[in-house]
Amino acid sequence: MGSGLADRIAEQLALIEDRLLAEAHGDTPFVTEAAAHIIAAGGKRFRPGMVVTVAALYGTAAVESVVKAALAVELTHVASLYHDDVMDEAELRRGTVSANRRFENTVAILVGDFLFARASGCVADLGAGYVKLHAETFSRLVQGQIGEVQGAAAGVSAYDHYLRVIADKTASLISTSAVYGGMVSGAPAGDLAILAALGDEIGTVFQLSDDLLDITSTQSGKTPGTDLREGVLTLPTLLVAASADPADARLQELIGRPLSDEAEVAEALGLLREHAAMGAAREEIARRAAAAETHLDALPAGEANDALRELCRSVVSRSA
Ligand code: FPP
Ligand code: MG
Repeated sequence: MGSGLADRIAEQLALIEDRLLAEAHGDTPFVTEAAAHIIAAGGKRFRPGMVVTVAALYGTAAVESVVKAALAVELTHVASLYHDDVMDEAELRRGTVSANRRFENTVAILVGDFLFARASGCVADLGAGYVKLHAETFSRLVQGQIGEVQGAAAGVSAYDHYLRVIADKTASLISTSAVYGGMVSGAPAGDLAILAALGDEIGTVFQLSDDLLDITSTQSGKTPGTDLREGVLTLPTLLVAASADPADARLQELIGRPLSDEAEVAEALGLLREHAAMGAAREEIARRAAAAETHLDALPAGEANDALRELCRSVVSRSA
């Protein structure tokens, strides 16, 4: 990325950072403190990064529209994390104590609602088309999360169910981030469709990668093994579950039920980390990211296009 573009993107992201904290301001110091808690803990800001970099593909957007769109997607994401951490009974988020632990479940849920309201305010400022896409995205987010809790319906393969869940709960908002970047730039309808597909595919890779980190990482700022505790199957555990190798029997037994015994979580993590399924999952992630990247061939070439290619690759390298 040329330094001109990198500087412009960094400048816009710094502005978005300040504005995120401003959006967390409530009517009382308590609301502000609780709403700023997860925003101030940092984060990758992948979704704002997507908005800003896609907008840079065209170079025609007003900065205020780019900022509003970026705020809308990040506030929606943070709101969903407040709710997700209640559902997961999480202890840690972004390397700090989660909101449900620092405050309590009811506060965490209501603060999630508060931030979602702030996101709605931002999209309302942008216009009805943005509001409609935001509403559709929110409906997918929630249904993805419900699907994860419910598990696969009869006749649906566990793998197909998993892909549907992650497309809805994660890729939907990343796809909308890419589309918003195009919309604020006045991109043609054909480009918006390509941006939607790019975001959906790279968003799926993002969650596949995140699920791998739940097994491998002690540096993610989250407690590893959350999916094992909840009995949620992800790409590597789905591969193990389908194995016919008798050596996999113990691991299959462990991943086949929610684990509440910490010794069993540690045992399952140990077996998984050494398992060939991890390599196979990494290959699938790299293959999908390369396929997602091909959408960029049909979008305007240049520095921003190269930066988006880097963004696609960064999704793979975080869990490599
Ligand atoms: C994280 O998944 C969760 C999501 C990506 C979506 C959660 C959506 C909701 C709770 C619906 C409510 C939404 C709003 C906007 C109020 P994960 O648990 O796999 O990831 P993690 O490892 O980061 O916890
Ligand atoms: Mg979670």
